Amino acid sequence: MDIKRNKPLLRVLNGEALSPPPVWLMRQAGRYLPEYRALRAEAGSFLNLCMKPEWAAEITLQPIRRFHLDAAILFADILLIPMALGQDLEFVEGEGPNLTPAITSADRIAALTPYDAARLAPVMEALKLIKAQLPQACTLIGFAGAPWTVATYMVSEGPGSDVAGARRLAYAEPEAFAALLDKLADATIEYLDAQIQAGAEVVQVFESWAGALTETLFEPCCLMPTRKIVTALRERWPDVPVIGFPRAAGALYPAYAKATGVSALGVDQLMPMSWLRKALQDMDLNIALQGNLDPEALVVGGSALEDGVKRLLSSQEGQPLIVNLGHGIIPPTPPEHVKHFVDLIRGGDR
Ligand code: CP3
Repeated sequence: MDIKRNKPLLRVLNGEALSPPPVWLMRQAGRYLPEYRALRAEAGSFLNLCMKPEWAAEITLQPIRRFHLDAAILFADILLIPMALGQDLEFVEGEGPNLTPAITSADRIAALTPYDAARLAPVMEALKLIKAQLPQACTLIGFAGAPWTVATYMVSEGPGSDVAGARRLAYAEPEAFAALLDKLADATIEYLDAQIQAGAEVVQVFESWAGALTETLFEPCCLMPTRKIVTALRERWPDVPVIGFPRAAGALYPAYAKATGVSALGVDQLMPMSWLRKALQDMDLNIALQGNLDPEALVVGGSALEDGVKRLLSSQEGQPLIVNLGHGIIPPTPPEHVKHFVDLIRGGDR
């Protein structure tokens, strides 16, 4: 039997409108779960968790066991690719990620090493372990950061600095910066291709810093590299959907959908879903939308959550929708609110 029939997420990515819609949450595995915190303490560091397949698989499956979500997303990080290009990666406790040496000049870009796929072999092992334990209606999502977003962390001089550095380098050294994005796009194609071979049924490309790009930089920094990734994956894997998440791209969302050819759009909480649906319809693009409850409404719960859910569902009636947050779950979120969220979507009967 066609496996897609059993998997609500794959059906919606194929253009079907389902009621109730499938639901999963960005960062659904993480610090808001006591069972994550316990394993994280045992592992000592976040990076150790990512690089040990048994741990990464266990953490991926923790929220699936609790909430019976429609998708499991690989537990890993978008900053593993820079590590495979020769930068040292460290997560500074309470501050965030740090990649060294910072890529602050054309020389530093040229000094990056060729993409070392073997370095990320543990990620593929984790995917195989997850796939073997996945409930039959649950879809396995692989992911990577989009080149621009990954580049912002590669350029950054430590957790305190902002994304302006990457924009400055894009203006100052346009050719070298384009070469960096191209190198990242090529590595990302190989990385996602390997994830699909290892069992990922869908891949999501996180462009978390799309909102930091001007209209002028959006084309070379976001659209071109993302289109390259989507086109290459579609050639190799025509049946594997690609979800693009250009967070906070605002009025540039429709252009992103059209230019990149993604199968579905991840939508942040600042974008009115009804406006975006109308804009896509005007371009004859009937792709699935994924999002976009405010993560703060999930922290608070009660009527903030209930009203948000109502509004989201009514904005996409009869349209292909994947329920999610507008960005990742934040650590103070009570797990009971996640359960309530899923129950609200499913009418409390599953
Ligand atoms: O969604 C999931 O459940 C899968 C796992 C996942 C993580 N990071 C785990 C993680 C995914 C999909 C990511 C993607 C990621 N990583 C993005 C894109 C999505 C987004 O949030 O915008 C970005 C920008 C990163 C880079 C990154 N990783 C940052 C900035 C940080 C530190 C900020 C923070 O929340 O502490 C991380 C660390 C990280 N990645 C954690 C987790 C669970 C926290 C690690 C810990 O201390 O236990």
